[in-house]
Amino acid sequence: MPQPPDLHVVDDPAAEVARLLAERARSGGSIVLTGGSTPGVAYERAAGLQPDWGGVELWWGDERCVPPDDERSNYRLAKVTLLDRLERQPHEVHRIRGELQPADAAGELDQALEGAELDLLLLGLGPDGHVASLFPGSPQLDVEDRRATSGPPGLEPWVERVTMTLPTLRSAHRIVFLVTGREKADAVVRAFAGEITREVPATLLRLAPVRVEAFLDRAAASKLGAG
Ligand code: 6PG
Repeated sequence: MPQPPDLHVVDDPAAEVARLLAERARSGGSIVLTGGSTPGVAYERAAGLQPDWGGVELWWGDERCVPPDDERSNYRLAKVTLLDRLERQPHEVHRIRGELQPADAAGELDQALEGAELDLLLLGLGPDGHVASLFPGSPQLDVEDRRATSGPPGLEPWVERVTMTLPTLRSAHRIVFLVTGREKADAVVRAFAGEITREVPATLLRLAPVRVEAFLDRAAASKLGAG
């Protein structure tokens, strides 16, 4: 039975997520980062709280198919806000190579993930309900025999994507969303309070064996409970 998400509506959700990242970095294990514009502030604060990430194996849930120094790159976001601020780098950094052909980069990620355990998975939420680079109704949602796949974007930036598949994302021991801003309020209702549907990929995470946690600011949560 899918469990309802564990929702935390707080003034400063990035601070909560930074604390979770820093705790995980301190104790060691694997962390899966997300991209987009929301998580940078949490990454910066996590680096400040815990500058030694030597015990961490680092992954990304998805990547835009651009070179690593492109400003749209999810790797670049983490490099600038987190990695460049650390005193000790993660012992393994599994960058998704967005500069390759998408299918090749997905194949590389699929191979790298063989036998991997994902301790903490951080996710964002798209205004259309997408998660990682799994877009509403897309064929990538049905990929069950691979740990990673590639496909077209469903939203800006309009570049091909590489993404972990649903079985991989659902295998994480802890699944945490960070969502902020009023422009996400409708998506928050559909993702965390609506029915489980391929039209809102974030809902499909609720089929994971662990309970999904979401840290939301008041603006993002403003339509929850509004009926
Ligand atoms: C990406 C993502 C994506 C992101 C959401 C939210 O590469 O774009 O990883 O799933 O988390 O689109 O993005 P924002 O934080 O920019 O709203």
